[in-house]
Amino acid sequence: MTVEIRVAEGDDVLRALAPIGHYFGSAGPLAAERWQNVTSVLPEGRTLAALEGDVIVGGAGAFGFDLTIPGGPVPAAGVTVVGVLPTHRRRGVMRELMRAQLDAVHERGEPLAVLWASEGGIYGRFGYGLASLTGDVDIQRAHAAYARPLEWSGEARLVPLDEALGPLQAVYDRVAAETPGMFSRSREWWRARLLVDPEWRRFGGGEKACTVLEVDGRPEAYALYRVNFGFEDGVSAGVTHVIEAVGASPAATAAVWRFLLDVDWMDRVKASLLPLDHPLLLLVEDVPRLGFRVGDGVWVRLVDVGAALAARSYAAEGDLVLAVGDGFCPWNDARFTLDGSKTTAPADLRLDVDALGSAFLGGFTVGQLARAGRVKELTAGAVERADALFRTERAPWTPEIF
Ligand SMILES: CC(C)(COP(=O)(O)OP(=O)(O)OC[C@H]1O[C@@H](n2cnc3c(N)ncnc32)[C@H](O)[C@@H]1OP(=O)(O)O)[C@@H](O)C(=O)NCCC(=O)NCCS
Repeated sequence: MTVEIRVAEGDDVLRALAPIGHYFGSAGPLAAERWQNVTSVLPEGRTLAALEGDVIVGGAGAFGFDLTIPGGPVPAAGVTVVGVLPTHRRRGVMRELMRAQLDAVHERGEPLAVLWASEGGIYGRFGYGLASLTGDVDIQRAHAAYARPLEWSGEARLVPLDEALGPLQAVYDRVAAETPGMFSRSREWWRARLLVDPEWRRFGGGEKACTVLEVDGRPEAYALYRVNFGFEDGVSAGVTHVIEAVGASPAATAAVWRFLLDVDWMDRVKASLLPLDHPLLLLVEDVPRLGFRVGDGVWVRLVDVGAALAARSYAAEGDLVLAVGDGFCPWNDARFTLDGSKTTAPADLRLDVDALGSAFLGGFTVGQLARAGRVKELTAGAVERADALFRTERAPWTPEIF
């Protein structure tokens, strides 16, 4: 039987999430309240269902937000809840969903799509490139001293989640605007995803706590975290689990991490999804004790290469001609200058669209891609010139999995 892809509406939105829900452990229909963090922020018309007859066997969705790229925010599709039931795997259902989704994103005029991949082997074939890396830390508090005294004269305040929206949004928006990889959060997003704490999502840990650091009443940093209490053999085995810590200045970032590292009774502090250039690496005295472990970050797909190149800023003067290969979205299979125009001029570099996605946020250099055989230099010195142009001040950072 063939599979048909349709936009899910009404109750079918939740049904279209059941295939991915299966892999989170749901055996049948989903409990609506457990998926509210997704359904309440999935824009209408952006959930796709794959139907075999009347039965939904696959689904895929896209959030709509502004993603910060070098140069500022651009509209992007935040791809999510991609799933196909195990009864229908490897028959091309996801491929059909990706086809319909990328065509729809292209029609909406969003220049790029971004996602977190469950496995590294899935999305390259659809033109997504790994665009950032992340760092996890697991720090024993006994070895968490800073190398230099903290210079900070603000106040820390515990804030109930239902009063946290204002200060958190104020800090987050300032940082998101200048950090590639961060995306805009609506008030609904904050309320549905960050400022809620249902018991079933604590997995035995403490309640979600929120601390805001202020200077003269102005919020400069915040931390969302759980204190996971525990004692073993008479000594503390507690863990402060950091959900998200953001500072709007170097001093505020140092201060909010000092706060987290100093919560008494805790033996360790754990955090994940940190950017690779996180200041902690230079703040602490004993770097190996951070247990800094690198993992994969977000994947970026340039859906409209011309529009994406035009929206990006470049760190140097000059231009390049890129010969872009794109087998899945043939409208991108062309030569481009950095202002986004198509050209017939001879190319300086040849690369596939996924490699361009990897370089786009600044998470990988063009030189790295060339050394991995993912970029071919056609004009002498073009890789070096590309690196001067694509260079960014900051490593990309996406602090939340969606
Ligand atoms: C991943 C998943 C959506 C794939 O769905 P599917 O319908 O079986 O995929 P398709 O049959 O359309 O496969 C399309 C291509 O992707 C490949 N592929 C699919 N899943 C893959 C995986 N996990 N790893 C590597 N390749 C994969 C297929 O081999 C096929 O390759 P080809 O067309 O180039 O030969 C499905 O297995 C699933 O729901 N997995 C669990 C949930 C999940 O990981 N979702 C993604 C969240 S980011």
